[in-house]
Amino acid sequence: MTATLHQFERNFEDAPRAAAKTGRKPLISLKGVGLSFGSHEVLQDINVDIGEGEFVCVIGPSGCGKTTLLRILSGLIQASRGTVSYRGKAQTEPASDIAIVFQDYANALLPWRTASQNISLALEAAATPRAERKDRIAHLLEKVGLSKHADKYPSEMSGGMQQRLQIARCLAQNPSVILMDEPFGALDAMTRQKLQDEILAIVSESNVTAFFVTHDLEEAIYLADRVIALEPNPGRIAELIDVPLARPRNQLTTREEPEFLALRRKLFDFVLRYE
Ligand SMILES: Nc1ncnc2c1ncn2[C@@H]1O[C@H](COP(=O)(O)OP(=O)(O)OP(=O)(O)O)[C@@H](O)[C@H]1O
Ligand SMILES: [Mg+2]
Repeated sequence: MTATLHQFERNFEDAPRAAAKTGRKPLISLKGVGLSFGSHEVLQDINVDIGEGEFVCVIGPSGCGKTTLLRILSGLIQASRGTVSYRGKAQTEPASDIAIVFQDYANALLPWRTASQNISLALEAAATPRAERKDRIAHLLEKVGLSKHADKYPSEMSGGMQQRLQIARCLAQNPSVILMDEPFGALDAMTRQKLQDEILAIVSESNVTAFFVTHDLEEAIYLADRVIALEPNPGRIAELIDVPLARPRNQLTTREEPEFLALRRKLFDFVLRYE
């Protein structure tokens, strides 16, 4: 117990340095961010810079404020304290180049529209000229491996396919940032791994910045450049953990690397404190 606490204190002290050493240009910057719902303090003193093109994962026990933090980044809700800046400006409303992928793909898609039409919706919202839409839709469907399913309705697609479609619809926004809230949480292990690789490929091709909430510690390590470990009551950053694993990552070899296993142990030790 003492050793674990000691380790925790050491890691906690490391946090500010970890924030500064990524060497990327900050795209999103949170300084002293806190949020309360009435008298309930949900988030406290969140300080982190997210670099352009960085893949940041967030883990922490249920109710610690992961989704709330994501909503603050999106501009959907405002922090009660501190500042959130995006591209150096205060984030006071949702930005059109920040896209969100939800866990609940069934509710995120329009059931009366086909796959193509669901993507078209995002292009219509972005005022993409009609003449360009067809090619863009075909390209986006191809990117997420759904070219053969363009005319299917969501109810005719598997969970993995529906989540791919939601991702394609987000990409139609041409986002600079993708915020994902447990996007693969409802999928089986194999589909999940495939989608992890697909999202990594998409992010690296387009230099998108990714902020990804997950309960799955191995998923967090597999995807991330950095993992934010949130502790609860109130939600605050306990650790900012660098993931120095080489890219591209590989579902077999990356997960066998000693560094991967060490990080896995570290994150398990962290969450076990709150069980
Ligand atoms: N709109 C709201 N009004 C009041 N309280 C809220 C609201 N949204 C969230 N909360 C509270 O804020 C806390 C953090 O919620 P949040 O959904 O961010 O947690 P989480 O880490 O995403 O949990 P989970 O892992 O279960 O998804 C919880 O105590 C929740 O009850
Ligand atoms: Mg949540």
